[in-house]
Amino acid sequence: MSQLSFTRAARPLSGRITIPADKSITHRALMLTPLVNGESRIHNYLDSETTRATLNCMRAMGADIQETEPGTLVVRGHGLHSLQEPHDVLYCLGSGTTTRLLAGLCAGQDFLSVLDGTSALKKRPMGRIVEPLKQMGAAILARDNDRFLPLVLRGGTLHGIEYALPVASAQVKSAILIAGLFADSPTTVSEPASSRDHTERMLRAMGVDVVSVSEHTIRLTPPAQLKPQATELAIPADMSSAAFFIVAALLVQNSRVELPNVGLNPGRTGLLDALTRMGASVQIENLREENGEPIGDLVVSATELGGTNICGAEIPRMIDEFPILAVAATQADGMTRVTDARELRVKESDRVATVAGELRKMGANIEEHEDGFTVHGPTRLHGARVMAHKDHRLAMSLAVAALAAEGETIIEGWDSVADSFPNFAPLLAAASE
Ligand code: S3P
Repeated sequence: MSQLSFTRAARPLSGRITIPADKSITHRALMLTPLVNGESRIHNYLDSETTRATLNCMRAMGADIQETEPGTLVVRGHGLHSLQEPHDVLYCLGSGTTTRLLAGLCAGQDFLSVLDGTSALKKRPMGRIVEPLKQMGAAILARDNDRFLPLVLRGGTLHGIEYALPVASAQVKSAILIAGLFADSPTTVSEPASSRDHTERMLRAMGVDVVSVSEHTIRLTPPAQLKPQATELAIPADMSSAAFFIVAALLVQNSRVELPNVGLNPGRTGLLDALTRMGASVQIENLREENGEPIGDLVVSATELGGTNICGAEIPRMIDEFPILAVAATQADGMTRVTDARELRVKESDRVATVAGELRKMGANIEEHEDGFTVHGPTRLHGARVMAHKDHRLAMSLAVAALAAEGETIIEGWDSVADSFPNFAPLLAAASE
């Protein structure tokens, strides 16, 4: 297993840092552009382990996706009904987004598909997509009473449903919306709180009628075909990857970094709101909209932080940022309490247990509870041998914690970082050169 060591930051972080492209939008672009009639060019896509899994699965179903130059994909789409039966298992690696969105896509296909992934992915709940997709008319079988991978699907023409998600989840919502493209009547999805709406935005840009019927409820009317989105689709930097540099710059004295072109989808900016309440200085400059997504340049300077409470509707808006939020909280003056965040237990790792367990090894004062955690700060962290638990975001959060710790921190299982941010370590080193 790979390991990497980090030590306390010797210098402030500074400069303009190019954060890799958004993982969520890349997955969606790879799945949806092959379904349009015509050519799309995807610029600045994320080339990482999980997005490559989606790319391979789409190619296995006949999608024509070529990398013409580094960072740009040309997709020749042949229409909504152009996919073909894959000859082999669609291997989703460790990617929940690949699996759940692809299940929605495969549910609408009149052929057999089998989805599988790593042992970690086999432990993640799939009943949440199996149930609505079955209601829409897809035949699905999954292990352990239809709850876990592998998943076998035979789809076809589906029926629109009205579905209320028990938990806010962009992956489940997207699976249902994508399946809804292949239904014979409109599909309505409601969530208890808003999650990221990248799928809705991309489908609208492709001419699909996706309307908001009330605060957390949307309705999709199945289209005859998808229109090519702006033929040039540029993917913004990933807010969830920027998060590590935001917190690193806040914690390392005298730092000031600029992070250009960061996606600011309202379903992704909860961390900025929480950090602002904690006293952080994060400026958004040059706010604009590209391809239907809000984007801005972030400027972050080191600040003293205080504690905050995070609960309710804010949880889905920063669902991937709790490991790094916990690191910020260890250096904040006071208590930071996260509740209503049971979903953290079914992410790439059980993030309540792993974040608390690993940060405690570095001296953090963090209590785990069933639906979140409480951090008492500030604490002087010390280096330790810690584990990534096959969780890319935990690995990078521990690296940021190491910048604020005395001594050396060795992170075991560092290779998981390739899931979303393959060049994290060199970029972090360059920022403090
Ligand atoms: C994602 C949605 C979130 C998030 C995941 C990516 C997406 O998952 O945690 O990393 O791209 O839709 P849930 O929908 O399960 O909350």
